[in-house]
Amino acid sequence: MTSLKDATVLVTGANGGLGAEFVTTAVARGARLVYAAARDPKGWGDNRVVPLQLDVTDPDAIDRARERAGDTTILVNNAAIFPRGDLLTAPLDDITANIETNLIGPIRLTRAFAPALRSAEGALVNVGSVLSWFAVGKAHSVSKAALWMATNAFRLELSPDGVQVLGAYLGPTDTPMQAGSNATGMNKPADVVAAVFDALEAGQHEVLVDETTKRVHAALSQPVTALYPALASR
Ligand SMILES: NC(=O)c1ccc[n+]([C@@H]2O[C@H](COP(=O)([O-])OP(=O)(O)OC[C@H]3O[C@@H](n4cnc5c(N)ncnc54)[C@H](OP(=O)(O)O)[C@@H]3O)[C@@H](O)[C@H]2O)c1
Repeated sequence: MTSLKDATVLVTGANGGLGAEFVTTAVARGARLVYAAARDPKGWGDNRVVPLQLDVTDPDAIDRARERAGDTTILVNNAAIFPRGDLLTAPLDDITANIETNLIGPIRLTRAFAPALRSAEGALVNVGSVLSWFAVGKAHSVSKAALWMATNAFRLELSPDGVQVLGAYLGPTDTPMQAGSNATGMNKPADVVAAVFDALEAGQHEVLVDETTKRVHAALSQPVTALYPALASR
């Protein structure tokens, strides 16, 4: 289990809907310092929050972040993009960007910060998605499915050294990523972050934040038509 009290937390995508909530909730739970990493960092009006310039697709920026924030004890890989479009027809650049941002970015960050996490016996939090297990997000689902497995592999590599690796999985949540969506009953960012940090502080490996995510995860053990019923009539 990893306490937020006196922790030093680095949050990627800190200006986003969930990112900002991770920053403020970490402070509220007693973090000593929070690095709020963003492509376009902003002031937070709190001397416990340190803005950090970080594009997760830029290896040089990751090196600079590691040098600046080498005292990080909890890394939250939160930044992601969700360009819509079919896998067959979307511009290939969109598909590559999904993989670079949502998968390779967290892998690079985790490699860069692994020594710090190991020496602190700290924690890695990777923000996955219900779309890690459900293909309707197309290229985004591909990137999040791969992040799920990367999270599992990192757990095998880091947990023997006392690093907790938490995969967080959630359904539609009311943030800018859902702009223009007509989904109903979306999660509130504060509820999602509370569930993720509760799981972290309870020492869990995974947290499935909402009922939709739990239903989709449970269906993985069923025939593929359980998740994609339209296939049953074909
Ligand atoms: N909202 C949902 O329904 C939902 C559901 C399941 C999982 N999630 C996951 O939750 C996490 C947070 O998403 P959100 O809902 O809070 O979305 P959001 O408000 O769009 O925030 C995403 C953040 O990621 C940042 N980002 C994108 N590309 C980046 C890059 N190359 N380098 C650094 N930062 C980058 C964005 O930065 P800029 O501010 O510079 O654009 C933005 O601040 C993501 O991993 C997402 O996949 C969200």
